[in-house]
Amino acid sequence: MRPRRPFALAVALAALAAPAAGCGGSGVHGTPGGSGLRDPYFPKAGNGGYDVRHYGLVLDYDPAGRRLSGTATVTARATKALSAFDLDLDGLTVEEVTVDGRAARWNRAGQELTVRPPDDLHRGATFRVTVRYSGEPVTITDHDGSEEGWLHTADGAVGLGEPTGSMAWFPGNHHPSDKAAYDLTITVPKGLRAVSNGELTGERTEGGRTTSTWHSAEPMPSHAATVAIGRFDVTRATTRDGLPVLTAVDPEQAGASKAVLARIPEIVEWARDLFGPYPFSSTGAIVDRPGDAGYALETQTRPYFAGAPDLSTLVHELAHQWYGNSVTPKTWADVWLAEGFATYAEWLWEEDHGGDSAQHTFDTFYATGEDLWAFPPAEPPDAAHLFESPVYQGGAMVLHRVRQTVGDDAFRALLRGWSAAHRHGTADTADFTAYVEKSAPGKDFTPLWKEWLYGSGKPPRP
Ligand code: ARG
Ligand code: ZN
Repeated sequence: MRPRRPFALAVALAALAAPAAGCGGSGVHGTPGGSGLRDPYFPKAGNGGYDVRHYGLVLDYDPAGRRLSGTATVTARATKALSAFDLDLDGLTVEEVTVDGRAARWNRAGQELTVRPPDDLHRGATFRVTVRYSGEPVTITDHDGSEEGWLHTADGAVGLGEPTGSMAWFPGNHHPSDKAAYDLTITVPKGLRAVSNGELTGERTEGGRTTSTWHSAEPMPSHAATVAIGRFDVTRATTRDGLPVLTAVDPEQAGASKAVLARIPEIVEWARDLFGPYPFSSTGAIVDRPGDAGYALETQTRPYFAGAPDLSTLVHELAHQWYGNSVTPKTWADVWLAEGFATYAEWLWEEDHGGDSAQHTFDTFYATGEDLWAFPPAEPPDAAHLFESPVYQGGAMVLHRVRQTVGDDAFRALLRGWSAAHRHGTADTADFTAYVEKSAPGKDFTPLWKEWLYGSGKPPRP
């Protein structure tokens, strides 16, 4: 873990610069919202004092000059009286900030953009902050060495945000605990396309530039927001029950992707039968080239793949729509609730399609997966180890132990019940253990949690 710094220098300065009583012309006595949410792994991710309802992003990108310019309109509700609040933004140049249409003072320090509205904001007030910004967005190297934020691809770029990369392309409350609806408008040179989450609600080409608009009505954690810019073959279809499917594939990957992407409706229907109603208004996939990013990401409604995915990875990223995007880990300590479930979905897919049973997969990992016991699934040692096998396969093993304890029928009910209980919300590990315990009264889960979820070293053979 990295040392905590409770408040950014920027906030301290903003507070000092405030009028004597910390009170603007409105008569409200606000205080600064704070520069982080005390996430155990990313203490400065997200910000205190408000809750975002909606992001309106209007972007323009020129791959040749690598220049992004944008206006972000963030609609939020103050959860306390505010004299100032922060947004997270890494890199880029801020040109103007307004709050409810009036010019606001602002200051930047590291990833914190501190905004001081002309009048303090009432607790409970809905306010609208707009940030005009531009520049060459940064690529962020994660603690584990992978790249996120803004990635340059062979024919464009892509914004990928897990865990903290979304602050490289738009200012926001970048923590999984604050989900919001999105509308995105993006203009790129004609011949390229920009593909994002949700539904494509408009596309027009004018003066050599193509503008497309994308709408996500259901709440989205900002790390699952994406925009992929490049040459894409776009295909639109619907599942048998009417869910729109939009895939965008780099023409170079078209041949290798065709058969596997054609299975999206079948996978979504299989998952829906197991996990409960599909949480969003559309689905699909984005396929870039293999060299464009080293990993796949469950970007909401439309997972991102660097190269044609294999079936198992496609199942994994689609399962994340329920576990990760609809039921979102409350902090990064709870990431096993996304990765463990998505990995277990792969095991279940195998089991249901004539492959190994989940029991067999569990036994194999138990016998051979020595790296699984490096740390407990619910307690990664630091931000460099959030996306490793103890979280993925180790997390899946926790779920299999729950299944062994409650039996197959109760486990199926639990998969659906858990996704229903926190649909479009957030949940932490304690919520999960309490939910399981409540669903199976009289069963003692203490040793299971102690050994498989929080224990260090290899648990005793079940
Ligand atoms: N959540 C992604 C998956 O489902 C992996 C994200 C990897 N990100 C990272 N910084 N290592 O597999
Ligand atoms: Zn995953």
